[in-house]
Amino acid sequence: MSNVVVVGAQWGDEGKGRIVDWLAESANIVVRYNGGHNAGHTLVVDGRTYKLALLPSGVVRGKLGLIGNGVALDPEALLAEIDRMAALGIHVTPEVLQIAETATLVLPVHRAIDAAQERLRAQPLGTTLRGIGPAYEDKIGRRGLRVCDLADPARLAQQLAALLDHHNAWLRGSGLEPFALEPMLGDLLAMAPRVLPFVGRVWERLDAAHTAGERVVFEGSQAVMLDVDWGSYPYVTSSSTVAAGAASGAGIAPSRLGRVLGVSKVYATRVGEGPFTSEAHGATGDTLRQRGGEYGVNTGRPRRCGWLDIVQLRQSSKVAGIDLLALTKLDVLDGFESISLCVGYTLDGARIDYLPASEAEQQRLEPVYEHFPGWRGNTRGVRSWDALPREAQALIEAIQREAGVTVAMITTGPERDDAIVLRAPFADAERAAIAR
Ligand code: IMP
Repeated sequence: MSNVVVVGAQWGDEGKGRIVDWLAESANIVVRYNGGHNAGHTLVVDGRTYKLALLPSGVVRGKLGLIGNGVALDPEALLAEIDRMAALGIHVTPEVLQIAETATLVLPVHRAIDAAQERLRAQPLGTTLRGIGPAYEDKIGRRGLRVCDLADPARLAQQLAALLDHHNAWLRGSGLEPFALEPMLGDLLAMAPRVLPFVGRVWERLDAAHTAGERVVFEGSQAVMLDVDWGSYPYVTSSSTVAAGAASGAGIAPSRLGRVLGVSKVYATRVGEGPFTSEAHGATGDTLRQRGGEYGVNTGRPRRCGWLDIVQLRQSSKVAGIDLLALTKLDVLDGFESISLCVGYTLDGARIDYLPASEAEQQRLEPVYEHFPGWRGNTRGVRSWDALPREAQALIEAIQREAGVTVAMITTGPERDDAIVLRAPFADAERAAIAR
């Protein structure tokens, strides 16, 4: 078995899309298992940029993409993305995309509730306003609609009416306009014939992949620090972003998932609200944002930027089961005279080496930094370890040592091959290399 689960090891936007794209080249299937079109995965292939939100990154290379039951699927967003891809010459057909029958649907009413909840919150969470949280609430509340329901118009109308009874009570109580059944029902029924050909038993396809010895990449969205259980709650998304989420969100045994590749930038960013102990305000943060192009792929929001938080990375690696680390965007640090790593915190004056669960405590943390000399020259596009400046090597070695995870890969630019590969993520490829 030689699958790889790719998870974000920070707050998202670590560059998972291009890592998945790189892995996809030598895999058969790419699977999304959590989140929805709140995600933004950017790939640059042959100089062309592709921005994906719902589609598994492998579709750009014609690899089979599976959307698992753990995904919150907005049919309108899906079809719009399929059309955008068609305009770029990538034709997403049922031969290259399969969607789990049991994936939960994101509806216009969820978008409206997401916006209303944010407006009414004393402390907004900074959600992407895509309706993802309210859709998962409905799923857990056992009133949600699923992709398979699109095939039964009469039942769909009943389910939607019951869903609106529930939500309209809250909307009216909050002094907001209730939501009408039409045009939502009509729009869903109109989209159904385009969505249904993609629908199938993803769990069965994954089982067949195992039997056939195919390689599967599980493409996590968001990241450990946005996980509903392990992130900085309540400033999190509403799904399971850790590797374990791949098993329940796609329908495969945990023992078949294979290795877990965590992806982290060599600095840190965060979108939305919530504690960010190593955030760099002023010139350092601005430089990281500009050099790293740190603006939301789908929302355009400027990202908060700061230094790499090793305490967070170490803890995330443990709870998400990260075996190997891909460090991204090394070239963004070119030109910095000094580079900092947050290697510990102080909480009310006492040194600690873990992220406390309480939000109030997280807000009071002060970073403890270790400083490293920057380097002269350019790491952009460097593709071998030996060609890296000594200072860059020392920084990566320090990250590996402090985080306690083996660095398998370093990226040095946006092109897929701007990377230094130190260890093959697929276990069978590594065995083959050792045998040679
Ligand atoms: P939601 O997922 O739209 O409910 O947003 C909840 C939190 O997750 C907010 O802080 C968002 O900014 C964050 N978030 C959701 N998706 C992403 C992503 O793909 N990258 C970075 N942050 C995200």
